[in-house]
Formats: sequence, C-alpha cells, structure tokens
Amino acid sequence: MTSDSKAETKALYVLGRTGEETERLQAQAEFVRPLTERLFRDAGIRRGMKVLDLGSGAGDVALLLARLVGPEGAVVGIDKNSSILETARVRAQSAGYDNVTFEGGDIRELSLPRDFDAVVGRFVLMYMPDPASTMRAVADHLRAGGIAAFQEPDFTHSPYAAPPSSLLDQIWQWISIAFRKSGADLEIGLKLRNLYLAAGFSDLHLEADRLIGGGADWGGYDHLAGLVKSVLPFLEANGIATAREVQAETLAERLRQYIVGNGGVVVWLTLVRLWGRKI
Ligand SMILES: C[S@@+](CC[C@H](N)C(=O)[O-])C[C@H]1O[C@@H](n2cnc3c(N)ncnc32)[C@H](O)[C@@H]1O
Repeated sequence: MTSDSKAETKALYVLGRTGEETERLQAQAEFVRPLTERLFRDAGIRRGMKVLDLGSGAGDVALLLARLVGPEGAVVGIDKNSSILETARVRAQSAGYDNVTFEGGDIRELSLPRDFDAVVGRFVLMYMPDPASTMRAVADHLRAGGIAAFQEPDFTHSPYAAPPSSLLDQIWQWISIAFRKSGADLEIGLKLRNLYLAAGFSDLHLEADRLIGGGADWGGYDHLAGLVKSVLPFLEANGIATAREVQAETLAERLRQYIVGNGGVVVWLTLVRLWGRKI
C-alpha cells in the first residue's frame, strides 16, 4: 500500500460505509441543498449542459444537476465507492431521471469524455490525499471555457453558540479530532483557490456561506449529531470516546433542547464555494 492510498483509506474510514452513513449523506444533502443549488446557478450551470459530478455518494448532487440541466442535458456521477452508487442509481430511477449515469472509480483512472461543460463536487476534495492532481484531472475533462464548481468546508474554526454550549463544544471536539486524525483535510476550503490556480483555471469566484440557526426545526442539530454518529466507530477504535460517553441516539435532541430552551443560536459550518473557467 502506498502512503497515498493509506491516507485515503484512513480518510474514508472516518465516516464509515454503513447504510446509516448513506442515510446521513442524504439528510446532509437536504440541509445544504439550497446553497449548492445557488453555487451551480451562479456558476452558470444550465439546461442542456453535460456535467460530471465527482464523488457522488448517494447521488444527491447528481440528482440536483439532473434537474438543472433537464432532459436535453446529461450528468455523469462517479465515486470510488461503487457500492454507494447502487443507492444513487435507484434514486435516479425512482425520480424518473434518465439523463444521469453513475460509474465507480477515480477521475484519474476512469475512461471518461473530455468535453464536459462542467465538473463539480461537494465534500469530496477534503477526502483526497492529492487534490492538486484531481484538479488537474478536472481541467483535463472540461472543454475550453468549461466550468469547475466545488463546495468544500472550512473546518479551521469551531462552531459556537449564544449562549455558549458545552455540549456543542464537546460535539465539535469529537468531530474535529476524528476528521483530523483520519487524514481528512480540515483546511481544504482555504486551499481551493490555489488548487484552481495551479490547475490553470481563471475567472475565479470565491464565496463562503456560514450555516447558522436556532429554533426547534433547524436541521443543524441532526447534522452535527449525524456526523458524530458516523465517526463514533473511529472514536472508539482510537480510544477517543466511548458510545456510552457520546450517547449518540439522544445527542441531537439534547443539543436542540438546550439551544431552544435558552432561546439560543448556533453558528455552525462554513462552506466555501468556488467556481471558475478552464482557459
Ligand atoms: C462526504 S461524501 C459526499 C457525497 C456527495 N458529494 C454529497 O455531497 O452528498 C464523499 C464521497 O467522495 C467519495 N470519494 C472520495 N475520494 C474519491 C475519489 N478519489 N474519487 C471518487 N470519489 C471519491 C467517497 O467515496 C464519498 O462517497
């Protein structure tokens, strides 16, 4: 095993490969969908385009794209975890989209067309040991003038609540330690611009959204608790926390009750979005 593939295996392990993680991905996708849709519309993704979705997971980004490009467009979703693509295929079929296909593999190894109008990805470069070579492959798969649009987190600062919440601080400790130790890149959002420049992209637009919310209906409590649930096997295996300490099943509810009970607000994730064109 090379050191690259070791790092990759470790990064993927942190969120696991369970049915629960697949469900978590879908819930997360619903939570951030408006921000991703805005990125794609601002980047100029429109009807009739042929788009490649990198790291499709359960297919949420590809399904969003299928709607944006319409029946006259086409979407190809790829993921190195072929098994999760079965879920993506079933979902595309039951949503009635016949303009989406999925292929298992890495963009650097698959034999794919080189004339995509756009290549996109969400929460994917952070898991790659060598995102620079991936961005070069992204450029190789675009036609001249084609669009690259990525959305990745900036995990370099902690979430916070008003009034402060020690439970939120603990949740963040668990998430950030697991991600850092697993080899995921917590600074990827801050590296995106240089990755684009090094791969030869121009006309760059860099923006960020910060997830903030309160009230009983806010999806952030479940998002935070879902991440902890997915990294729990990693936390246990590395002696960081036990299931008994975490009490994952009640975590979202405990955070919700504290925040709502105190009329509070949580400032959670920063999502960096960047789009640009191949010269
Ligand atoms: C957190 S999930 C995000 C899924 C989807 N983009 C979304 O936002 O719902 C990250 C996905 O990237 C995939 N992935 C990681 N490295 C990859 C690579 N080198 N090539 C293709 N897929 C990769 C993982 O298998 C995983 O399904």
